[in-house]
Amino acid sequence: MRRYLVAGNWKMNLKQESALALAKALAAACPGGDTRIDVLVAPPFPYLLPVKQAVAGSNVTVGAQNAYFEQPGAFTGETSVEMIADCGCKAVILGHSERRHVLGETDAVINKKVKAVLAKGLDVILCVGELLADRDAGNTEAVLDEQMKGGLAGISEEQMAKIVIAYEPVWAIGTGRTASPEQAESAHAHLRNWLKTHYTAGVADTTRILYGGSVKPDNAAELMGQPDVDGALVGGASLKPEQFLPIIQAAQGLTR
Ligand code: 13P
Repeated sequence: MRRYLVAGNWKMNLKQESALALAKALAAACPGGDTRIDVLVAPPFPYLLPVKQAVAGSNVTVGAQNAYFEQPGAFTGETSVEMIADCGCKAVILGHSERRHVLGETDAVINKKVKAVLAKGLDVILCVGELLADRDAGNTEAVLDEQMKGGLAGISEEQMAKIVIAYEPVWAIGTGRTASPEQAESAHAHLRNWLKTHYTAGVADTTRILYGGSVKPDNAAELMGQPDVDGALVGGASLKPEQFLPIIQAAQGLTR
């Protein structure tokens, strides 16, 4: 059965001191050997190394929020997958709505990044999600299909073992407006069916699909309790241990 993954996307938040305090609190609450669920945090680049050191030996792994697809070289301001791996990261979040809609990343760019991350043996958390206008126009599933097709172009069945999908409806991100459990389950079931159609029933059964968008302690259990929701990608509520830990505990309590 799919193991829950609770991931915290810190986005462009925190400073060294607050990032380390948060990392240490999470590490203390998630000791090594407790493998009921997977826990990951994605700090800003400058804090990857100290956060990795702060969670060493615990059940908390570290991921990056982005990566560049080129090999190391003359790309001012970019960060290679090699460097991210060198910092001890296990995964990279790609295709986040803020990178799509604020930084202008296309499915083609995201796909190059997916391939670059997999080539270095790291996991990918591939985010997909519709705008409010897409939902209102009844286009949610078409948008998800397009993003899945574009982001996963050329990715083999074998490589899918390293991919986690995160469904993040853009209208629910940072707005306090969460998708209802029914809306989340419907999108997740659609995504799982997409995986079955484009890969195999086995890939559909084993690929984790996280929900993201205003996940909080008081809605986490209901969202993650849906049959096709395999964890959460948490933004704002991942910045404070008193909010993130109850979300982790909710997943532990649901462990199937
Ligand atoms: P919020 O939890 O702040 O809505 O952010 C969700 C998100 O974008 C996680 O990647």
